[in-house]
Amino acid sequence: MPEPLANVHGQLMLLDDVKISAQDRGFLFGDAVYEVLRIYQGRAWLEDEHFERLKNSLAAIRISGVDLDRLRRRMHETIAAGPFGEAMVYIHVTRGAAPRRHAFPSDTAPLEFLFVKDYDDRPTAQARLEGTKVITYPDIRWGRCDIKSTNLLANVLANQTAAEAGASEALLYLPDGTMSEASHSSYFIVAGGTVCTTPLKSNILPGITRNFLLRLAQKADIPVREHTMRREDVYQAQEVFLTGTTSEVLPVVRVDDKSIGDGRPGPVSKRLLTLHEQAVHAFLS
Ligand SMILES: Cc1ncc(COP(=O)(O)O)c(C=O)c1O
Repeated sequence: MPEPLANVHGQLMLLDDVKISAQDRGFLFGDAVYEVLRIYQGRAWLEDEHFERLKNSLAAIRISGVDLDRLRRRMHETIAAGPFGEAMVYIHVTRGAAPRRHAFPSDTAPLEFLFVKDYDDRPTAQARLEGTKVITYPDIRWGRCDIKSTNLLANVLANQTAAEAGASEALLYLPDGTMSEASHSSYFIVAGGTVCTTPLKSNILPGITRNFLLRLAQKADIPVREHTMRREDVYQAQEVFLTGTTSEVLPVVRVDDKSIGDGRPGPVSKRLLTLHEQAVHAFLS
């Protein structure tokens, strides 16, 4: 199994050997954006979509001067250098290192860092078969959750609370009682046979898997609706599932102390999971 490999400004090195300035604004302010991609058999899944979102995140926080085609080439070189088969890529761009001052520095180059690491899907594969438990938790994040920023403290606290409750994820609810998304996943419910998920606004990340799954469902003639839900809708749903780059489609069988459906992954979630698997196989063949 190859060691996790990093690439910093085009230089390949072991992830453990990377040194980043203590004055880096990603470190000091969370002044940074990131992406996570899944690598299947050495090939990057939904690569164009991830790089498009990275471009949007960089533009939203006004980091300029990053050559995304070059960053892509570095990513491929790093995957090949492993070589990595089943893996994940983490890409992280910060505004760079400068003396600590809130306003942007005038002449600092962005830090372009990525790493590739083996990914063992077996625990998640098991969870997809059995279904997972989640909790609900207040969404205390900022107003631009559509930017994939590295400011994840509220997500960390939510997910830690889930872990302490023996759950894998936290579904986040806003002060008005509506649900946004989960701490590191998008979420869907199935109600009256329709697949529903939160509409894209500034309160959620435009999940790549979310968008891909909506397209898959539409192609398969499964009714879909983008619609804001309340906590009660989730408790009463026929099915609930999470989506994300590494979780893919993960059925939820319990939310807080409420069992969902008959407490086992439901038919729509299982069908979408199969459609996702087939799409990955088609991509690889
Ligand atoms: C808050 C949040 N929502 C949703 C997702 C799922 O997004 P994607 O499908 O692009 O992995 C993530 C993934 O990291 C996330 O952090």
